Amino acid sequence: MPALTNRKRVLVTGGAGFLGSHLCDRLLAAGNDVLCVDNFFTGSRDNVLHLLDNPHFELMRHDVTFPLYVEVDEIYNLACPASPIHYQHDPVQTTKTSVHGAINMLGLAKRVRARIMQASTSEVYGDPAVHPQPEEYWGNVNTIGPRACYDEGKRCAETLFFDYHRQHRLDIKVIRIFNTYGPRMHPSDGRVVSNFIIQALKGEPITIYGDGQQTRSFCYVDDLIEGFLRFMDTPAGVTGPINLGNPGEFTMLELAEKVVRLTGSDSKIVHKPLPQDDPKQRRPDITKARALMEWEPAVPLDEGLARTIAYFRGRFFA
Ligand SMILES: NC(=O)c1ccc[n+]([C@@H]2O[C@H](COP(=O)([O-])OP(=O)(O)OC[C@H]3O[C@@H](n4cnc5c(N)ncnc54)[C@H](O)[C@@H]3O)[C@@H](O)[C@H]2O)c1
Repeated sequence: MPALTNRKRVLVTGGAGFLGSHLCDRLLAAGNDVLCVDNFFTGSRDNVLHLLDNPHFELMRHDVTFPLYVEVDEIYNLACPASPIHYQHDPVQTTKTSVHGAINMLGLAKRVRARIMQASTSEVYGDPAVHPQPEEYWGNVNTIGPRACYDEGKRCAETLFFDYHRQHRLDIKVIRIFNTYGPRMHPSDGRVVSNFIIQALKGEPITIYGDGQQTRSFCYVDDLIEGFLRFMDTPAGVTGPINLGNPGEFTMLELAEKVVRLTGSDSKIVHKPLPQDDPKQRRPDITKARALMEWEPAVPLDEGLARTIAYFRGRFFA
């Protein structure tokens, strides 16, 4: 039946997670109907509590490793635990979520002819031998290491997206997300920004793995979500993969020092051994995103950290 309004029905899998909940906020603010699907493995109702009274928002408990039969116009596939602690907790389920989840959501997109976006990751580049990483770089991934359930699951999901595109003419978009941080990050997922902030707010020592000279780039969540929306609106046939992240590069030591300063904490910095397969450097080459959709991260690290610290302080230390 033809739609009665211009309002789009948008499915966000993993919508009760960190990134998904911000995406739901933005999609609703833009006048869409949002169906948020989540199994609450790492996400939580708390992240979307403020949306539950919105008549244009619907929350459904569902695991994407099982088929889903709904009518939607667009799909953002974000369901997947994103932090090593969580994705290594049940590695088989992590691979299933990426691979079966992709097959199920692509099958849904095929049935209802919806445009579908995959939240892929910079982890597809593994421990990169090329720096910074352009989209053409094929990566350096250990197929049998403890991170492989996530890295290889995401790589296989990309393969599936492109095969559905070639074989079934599906309208796909693949984004490769680099480290993103902000309010609603899981407080105990071991990711570096939340880790440092919690440790600083508790006045505990700040743990740095290795000598702290390994670098990461950090993108504030609002910038990333803006990139999601702009890329979803690019013409059919623009598939990506496209890097989204903030190219500003900081060492772990610099990050720790910023967090200590911005929290006003007297935490000391301590060093622990580097975990297996921890990448030494990671920085996006966002030339394509800039050229294609004039997208550029706008929130400086100090400002993003201040907003994130305010969230953690208010939610867990009030
Ligand atoms: N945050 C980042 O820096 C980052 C970087 C690269 C890629 N990503 C990708 O972005 C997406 C969202 O990440 P996030 O940081 O918001 O993590 P998150 O853990 O907060 O969100 C993932 C959500 O997916 C849900 N989920 C997990 N398995 C599921 C399943 N089988 N069925 C239904 N729901 C399921 C979780 O409950 C959670 O709400 C993930 O796919 C992740 O791989 C995130």
